[in-house]
Amino acid sequence: MGFLVTRTLAADEREILNLAVAPDFRRKGVARGLFDSAFEGFRGGVFLEVRESNRVAQKFYKSLGFKELSKRRGYYDSPPETAIVMKFYSC
Ligand SMILES: CC(C)(COP(=O)(O)OP(=O)(O)OC[C@H]1O[C@@H](n2cnc3c(N)ncnc32)[C@H](O)[C@@H]1OP(=O)(O)O)[C@@H](O)C(=O)NCCC(=O)NCCS
Repeated sequence: MGFLVTRTLAADEREILNLAVAPDFRRKGVARGLFDSAFEGFRGGVFLEVRESNRVAQKFYKSLGFKELSKRRGYYDSPPETAIVMKFYSC
C-alpha cells in the first residue's frame, strides 16, 4: 500500500527520504501509520524536504506536527523546484 524510507543522521536526528502511498489507498491513515510505526519511541528531530508545489504532502506533514524551517532554492531537478525544509520534534 505504501512505503517510508528514513535514515539516521545522529542519535537524536533522523531524516525522511521518501514516503508514498498508492493512490487507491490514500486518505485512509496509511502514511500516518507508517510514520507512527517508524518513529515509535524515537526522541529527537525529524527533518525532510518537500517540493514547494506538493501541497498535499505539506498538509500531511503539518497534520503530524511538522513545521516549515526554511527553503532551499534549486534543490530539485526534473523539473527544477524549491524545496521546503520541514522539522518535527518528538519529545
Ligand atoms: C502525502 C501522502 C504520503 C499521504 O498519504 P495518506 O496515506 O493519504 O495520508 P493519511 O491518510 O495518513 O493522512 C493523514 C492526514 O494528512 C492530511 N492529508 C492527507 N492527504 C491529504 C489531502 N489530499 N488533502 C488534505 N490533507 C491531507 C490530513 O490531515 C489527513 O488526516 P485526515 O484524513 O484524518 O483528515 C500521499 O498523498 C502520497 O503518497 N502522495 C504522493 C507522494 C508524495 O507526495 N510523497 C511525499 C514526498 S515528500
